Order: sequence, then C-alpha cells, then structure tokens
Amino acid sequence: MAQTRKPARKRSTTRPVVLSDPGELRAILDRDRRRGRSIGFVPTMGALHEGHLELVRRARTVADVVVVSIFVNPTQFGPNEDLARYPRDLDGDVRLLATVPADFVLVPPVEAVYPPGHATTVHVAGLGDGLCGPHRPGHFDGVTTVVAKLFSMVGPCTAIFGRKDFQQLQVIRRMTADLELPVEVVGRPTVREPDGMAMSSRNRYLSPADRRRATALVEALRAAAAGFQAGEREPATLERKLRDGLAGRVDRIDYVFVGNPETLQPWPGAIPPGRTALAAIAAFVGATRLIDNVELGAETI
Ligand code: PAJ
Repeated sequence: MAQTRKPARKRSTTRPVVLSDPGELRAILDRDRRRGRSIGFVPTMGALHEGHLELVRRARTVADVVVVSIFVNPTQFGPNEDLARYPRDLDGDVRLLATVPADFVLVPPVEAVYPPGHATTVHVAGLGDGLCGPHRPGHFDGVTTVVAKLFSMVGPCTAIFGRKDFQQLQVIRRMTADLELPVEVVGRPTVREPDGMAMSSRNRYLSPADRRRATALVEALRAAAAGFQAGEREPATLERKLRDGLAGRVDRIDYVFVGNPETLQPWPGAIPPGRTALAAIAAFVGATRLIDNVELGAETI
C-alpha cells in the first residue's frame, strides 16, 4: 500500500499568543511550571516602544517563558488624567512583541481584572507619599493593586520593570517583599532617544515644538549629574540646577527632588559621603506630564 504521508502537523510558531482570559493563561503557565520552566513577566500599558522591548529582551535572557501584559489600568489614573486618550495600539504592540519574541501577551478586559464586587486595594505606606504621590492621589494604590493581581494571574519567577518609573519600582519592590510574593523584581535602566529624552508612551502626545522643549528634563538632570560629578553634595544646590534647567522651557514643574534613592526621602543635610542620590523631575510640557530621573553616582545620563 502506497504510503500517504501525513502532512506534518504544523507546529504553531506564531508568537506571541494573545490571550484575554487570565484563567486560560494561568492553565497554560501551570503546565510550563510543572515542566520546570521559569516565567519572566513584563507588565505594561501598551503603546510599546524600545524601552518596553528592552525589558522584554531582558526577560528572554532570564526566563524560559516570557509573558507581557497590556492593560491600561483605570485605577491608577486620576479623574483629570489621560485614561480616555491613553494611546492604544494592540496590533502594533503584538507586531513589536513578535520581534523579541514574547511567548504570551495577556490583554485582559477591565471586567476580568475588576469584576463587580472587587473591593481590595494594596497600599504601600511611605514610599508613595512623596514625589509623584501628592500630585497623583491614589495612583500608586492603583499600580500596586494591579501589579499584585497580575503577579497572581501570571505567577512569574522574575518580573522586570524600568527605572524610568523609579518610584513605582521602589513601591513594587516594597510590596513584593512585604507580601512575600515569590517574585524576583528586577529594575532596568531607562532607554533614551538619541537626544537623551527618556522614551515614554506619552511622548507621542507631544507636538514637534513641545518635543524639542521636552529635552529640558534630561538636560536638567545632566546639569545635576555634572554638579554631583564635580563634588557638589548639597541637595538644595543640585535641586536648583534641576529647576534652572527647566525654567522657561517647561510649562509647569510638579517637583524636582534630590534625595535618598531607597527611602525617597530628602536627607536632613548634605548627601552622605559615598552615597548615591536620586535626582528626579516631573514637569508638564503643554498638557503632557513627563517624568525622568537619574541615580547620581550610579548611572550616567
Ligand atoms: P508602562 O508605562 O507601560 O510601563 C511599563 C514598564 O516599562 C514599566 O516598568 C516602565 O518603567 C517601563 N518603561 C517605560 N519607559 C521606559 C524606558 N524609557 N526605559 C525603560 N523602561 C521603561 O508602568 C506602567 O506601564 C504601569 O504602571 C504598570 C506597571 C504596567 C501597572 O499598570
């Protein structure tokens, strides 16, 4: 009998697999875990850029299975913030993630994350109180609540975050330690445009003229970094350099800060010898709120 060759079963090589049901993803990842595979996770709100992709590439190097979530989390936006107009481009995002590649993209609907009756908030005391905290009331509670939930859905061994959102990274580290979540939180350097501007999904709001003005943030941080490099250790003097760098170029300053990178508190006096310092800025260019930071003495910018 002539052998009829079965057409080879086409192995699914289309990565990433996009799933909206967290339960379905969990079932798949449970199988991976049983086979001893490690899970790397990058939570995002989409409108992906090279900064996000660097985190995903990092996840690829530390884990067997790479999961990215795309969820524009309503609870971390204030009433006057940009939730409704936050950029969304799922097709573009999935195309970018195919280049890394990521294995799974979780895109849960809001009802899957916050079903009716949802009543729990994760609050980290202290670290969220300064810097962005007073300007974005409730923001970090929204972040910690959603990240705790995403950690439960995905069950990552390693979760990768950007230092671009330095306060967020510290708040998430604290939450993960305090709740004894079995996740290693990794922070990665800020990816920048050729002119130094930190990449951000919100940069696409900027008109060309505003985009040029927005380089004031990185330039102000560079001025502070040069001062620190030259031996300046007075936070007030370094903060003055940040303000001077922004003056006349941005439309409003939310804060400038030079202080302790671990506690996010100012030092009572000079930066202690041998210590690094976080220099951080939040400022509006037009209607767009931008943040940037550098750890003086630890990073070059
Ligand atoms: P999003 O702003 O989409 O950022 C997702 C991750 O990418 C964060 O860890 C952020 O710090 C990192 N990131 C953004 N721009 C970066 C850059 N230029 N270089 C390096 N990393 C960068 O942060 C959030 O979403 C949300 O708050 C989230 C954690 C997903 C919770 O909703």
